[in-house]
Amino acid sequence: MVTIQTKKALLEQLRSLPKENHLGLVPTMGALHQGHTSLIKKAVQENDHVVVSIFVNPTQFNNAQDLEKYPKTLDSDVALIKRIASEAIIFTPTIKEIYKNDTQSKIYDFNGLDKVMEGSFRAGHFNGVGTIVEVLFNLIQPRKAYFGEKDFQQLRIIQKLTEIQKLPVEIIGCPIVRETQGLAMSSRNERLHPMLRQKAGFIYQTLKTAKRKFGTENANTLKKWVETEFVAHPDFDLEYFEITDTDTLTPIKKKTDNTKYRAFIAVFADDVRLIDNIALN
Ligand code: PAJ
Repeated sequence: MVTIQTKKALLEQLRSLPKENHLGLVPTMGALHQGHTSLIKKAVQENDHVVVSIFVNPTQFNNAQDLEKYPKTLDSDVALIKRIASEAIIFTPTIKEIYKNDTQSKIYDFNGLDKVMEGSFRAGHFNGVGTIVEVLFNLIQPRKAYFGEKDFQQLRIIQKLTEIQKLPVEIIGCPIVRETQGLAMSSRNERLHPMLRQKAGFIYQTLKTAKRKFGTENANTLKKWVETEFVAHPDFDLEYFEITDTDTLTPIKKKTDNTKYRAFIAVFADDVRLIDNIALN
């Protein structure tokens, strides 16, 4: 396994690989858990070589404190990758290596995908994500790249990015990995008090009940029900609950046949922001 910090060294390493070999990329911000390792394991199964990038991308943080608090656990991340993908190439660039002296996002037109939910509560977030992912795709030129459905809106935006920028990368969506109480795994979960972390299974339980109710109830009644559930809960503050078309991410007005819907949620537990989502039909 090799750990590489510079673009130049990475390109040298990649050029030494046989041209016909398949290359897979798993972009991450580190603080790795089983959600990340599920992506890495899938990439190892489906490719001859795998690059895992670890880079806490400053341009996608709309909140300086959130960036500052983001966990950095490089040594244990490298050890974890070594255990599950001993041949992987680990790319850990500095901010300067990626952005030179201009730590700015490009501005994209994601055709509205970035205007709802995470996009409306985290201004500029998806331009930052698009910028770093486009840099990584252009540099590494993987055949496939792996993203989790945990960040379903991000997954849709990356698919749109490859379309608008004509990037020849197949985007592979991977299912959400959860803790035993149901909470979607996230680097942020470590910041939850153990008791609160246990109780946070409530978020997924609510999504599952919403899914069941979606069969018979209209979307507005369902949204109101979720809001009431959270108002009544002493530990969690609901930021949004939204039901959207899975492809366009436009909020539902009236249920129509042959449309796939998904429910999305963002919740604060103390100062920790948690997101999750579920397919409804
Ligand atoms: P990060 O939050 O580190 O997540 C890296 C990848 O792991 C993302 O595709 C994310 O959806 C996936 N992931 C995280 N938790 C997961 C879970 N519980 N189950 C399944 N997949 C999970 O997402 C980012 O980093 C960044 O925005 C990035 C794409 C790297 C760009 O900076």
